[in-house]
Amino acid sequence: MATMKLILGIESSCDETGVAIYHAERGLLAHALHTQVAMHNEYGGVVPELASRDHIRRMLPLIRLVADEAGCCLQDLNAIAYTQGPGLSGALLVGASIACSLAYSLNIPAIGIHHLEGHLLSPLLSDSTLKFPFIALLVSGGHTQLMRVDGVGKYTLLGETLDDAAGEAFDKSAKLLGLCYPGGPELAKLANQGRPGRFHLPRPMQHSGNLDFSFSGLKTAVLTLTRQHTLDEQTRADIAYATQEAIVEVLTTKSLAALKQTGLSQLVIAGGVGANQHLRAQLNEAASKSGFRVFYPDLEFCTDNGAMIAFAAVLRLQEQEMEGDYRFNVRPRWDLQQLNYSE
Ligand code: KG4
Ligand code: ZN
Repeated sequence: MATMKLILGIESSCDETGVAIYHAERGLLAHALHTQVAMHNEYGGVVPELASRDHIRRMLPLIRLVADEAGCCLQDLNAIAYTQGPGLSGALLVGASIACSLAYSLNIPAIGIHHLEGHLLSPLLSDSTLKFPFIALLVSGGHTQLMRVDGVGKYTLLGETLDDAAGEAFDKSAKLLGLCYPGGPELAKLANQGRPGRFHLPRPMQHSGNLDFSFSGLKTAVLTLTRQHTLDEQTRADIAYATQEAIVEVLTTKSLAALKQTGLSQLVIAGGVGANQHLRAQLNEAASKSGFRVFYPDLEFCTDNGAMIAFAAVLRLQEQEMEGDYRFNVRPRWDLQQLNYSE
């Protein structure tokens, strides 16, 4: 697909409007993000209708900004990639309708990308030493999955959460500690003041013998702790410390088990929770002990962004020819394994 060089990527699955322009040979030319965190903050979580309306407001100015920064005009684009799912349906529809109508007007293909495929390939954006096959730990606000990745579009699910996602466990525990949404980074910050050893929280399914996770019991244990103690600043920090430690230990143990089970030696951490410094420290320590390599996307590409969507589209276009189709059909729920286009 020699002609498919310049791709606009659009992300609008949740509370971040992300736009980027990626060149197949020159790499990422420009990217911009508007986060709705401040807007949703006062409600303690994402309000889907507000998210959709804000995506509508932000998307076109961001596209203009990114095109200016990349030094190109829309007529130079060869394709437009957008997040087709999973995510909030209204929010997805904004990105899909803008991408498809713009692509139609420019007579170029519109390509629907799986949000998690974007996350899972994002470490390749900044590190060309990563090679297939590898294990990917996808840890976001909505997902916790261990995948075996044999190539672009060749994904095998090894294990996943049976209830809450790791990000959700961070966010819900943070809420119980009176922290702002999104709670993950806030809880991590508070945990820095926490003392080890005062509280010990359960490590759900750590030794279950499979690669599945469960985090809802942890949230209940945090709730119990918050009811049993006076929540002074130090106690909140100690609970935050114990919560982060429990989540990180389970994620680390299961990732190591996935590497062992498959015999692979590269681990990719993708999704918003991948920004967690304690998780990174634990995995780095395990990697140097056990002799595997661990890859993280640059911090700005760990959370939702348009660059990963444009990049995933570039990789897919190198693998298979894709027809332009302007009938958009968002997929709020979408199994990553359905993407396997090797079969
Ligand atoms: O991938 P992402 O940006 O959006 C989803 O697709 O969900 O992930 C957002 C999640 C939220 O749950 C947020 O609290 C969590 O990632 N997160 C963190 C950190 N930064 C973001 N969790 C723990 N520590 C962090 N530093
Ligand atoms: Zn995400």
